[in-house]
Amino acid sequence: MKVLVVGGGGREHAIVTKVHQSSSVDKIYCVPGNAGIAALAECENISVMDFDRIADYALEKKVDLVIVGPDDPLVGGLTDHLEAKGLRVFGPRKNAAILEGSKAFSKDLMKKYGIPTAAYENFDNAEDAMKYIESAQMPIVLKADGLALGKGVLICSSIDEAKDGVRQIMIDRKFGDAGNRLVIEEFMQGREVSVLTFVDGKTIKPMTSAQDHKRALDNDEGLNTGGMGTFSPSPFYTKEISEYCQKNIFEPTVAAMAREGREFKGIIFFGLMLTKSGPKVLEYNARFGDPEAQVVLPRMNNDIIEVMNACIDGTLDKIDLSFEDNAAVCVVLASEGYPVKYEKGFEIKGLDAFDGKDGYFCFHAGSAFKDGKIVTNGGRVLGITAVGKDLKKARANAYEAVKWVDFENKYCRSDIGRAIDEA
Ligand code: AMP
Ligand code: GLY
Repeated sequence: MKVLVVGGGGREHAIVTKVHQSSSVDKIYCVPGNAGIAALAECENISVMDFDRIADYALEKKVDLVIVGPDDPLVGGLTDHLEAKGLRVFGPRKNAAILEGSKAFSKDLMKKYGIPTAAYENFDNAEDAMKYIESAQMPIVLKADGLALGKGVLICSSIDEAKDGVRQIMIDRKFGDAGNRLVIEEFMQGREVSVLTFVDGKTIKPMTSAQDHKRALDNDEGLNTGGMGTFSPSPFYTKEISEYCQKNIFEPTVAAMAREGREFKGIIFFGLMLTKSGPKVLEYNARFGDPEAQVVLPRMNNDIIEVMNACIDGTLDKIDLSFEDNAAVCVVLASEGYPVKYEKGFEIKGLDAFDGKDGYFCFHAGSAFKDGKIVTNGGRVLGITAVGKDLKKARANAYEAVKWVDFENKYCRSDIGRAIDEA
């Protein structure tokens, strides 16, 4: 069969790599893709938001399945658009992707169905939000309702800071329309864990757990980024906790969406906080995490196409999802200055070192071809993933492989996976 993957980052490179391993696939296309993905898929420079061109391209290439990677097109309704043209699509429809697209929606859903999450209030004007803050307990968390490239969450330690946050989001409209509504929620403490799941509308099957490192610098300092590295599994996500989450969070979320007439088929990514009073939902995403996919998918035993087909057909209960009994660590190599200002266009050297090395992956996040060479083309450039028998070995392997590649302005965190020493 022929498969089209929509997206062009490290997550999509991990998806394409897994799709490439499927025995049923003989051709992969990717829009827009990147220089790494181009080794496995035919790439065409079409924006993920250009729904008409994506549909035309998929029809012209006669693809049997379209897999949508990023949040923006899912929330914008790419799945519906392609289905209307008769294409088969993996990824939630617009009315289900709202689970990620509106934080106010997801908080209200959790409240209505008793799914554990932080206490909150929704606001649609700055005045009411300011008034609420005056008598609220600090620290407090402000969240722009809509998609804001992962940057729409502010943790404020004083009333002044919180008021300034409301101003930025709702009055200065720093995140545009995403700030038309605001969620103000209780600050939770604990360890964070990401759990990606496959969902077919009724059945939900979790993948192995992972943990992300969102801040730009070591010791969780610096600005929030799209993610500077991940490890999988999380040693803090025990069997007991996973059973609790399946029963009290995962299954109730899928049932709630079905009940609301918003049948969810695709990936639900649960951002969880393991608090003293039990696991609670920080956020939902309607897609694979980036760079969570880069540590989870390399450890998956299943044929990803079989699992995705089961999600679309509503037969996920028949699938036995399983993961290797090992660990993986991904270290992101970024351009110095990310996430604010950085230069690109520098040659990436040493990529050949990964050829034929089992258990090592060099996922391209921001790369392009220039004059026959592969050059940097983004803030996050590469995700270096290594597998190992346990987390410590995987981490040592990943940091070894980080040395194999080089480009000007290369920088990475040196403490990805440090939390595992505390387990
Ligand atoms: P989100 O995009 O909702 O996952 O938020 C981004 C990050 O902000 C999370 O990964 C947490 O580190 C932090 N965060 C979000 N909500 C809360 C909360 N209620 N309490 C503490 N930290 C939070
Ligand atoms: N790594 C966090 C995300 O994909 O949202």
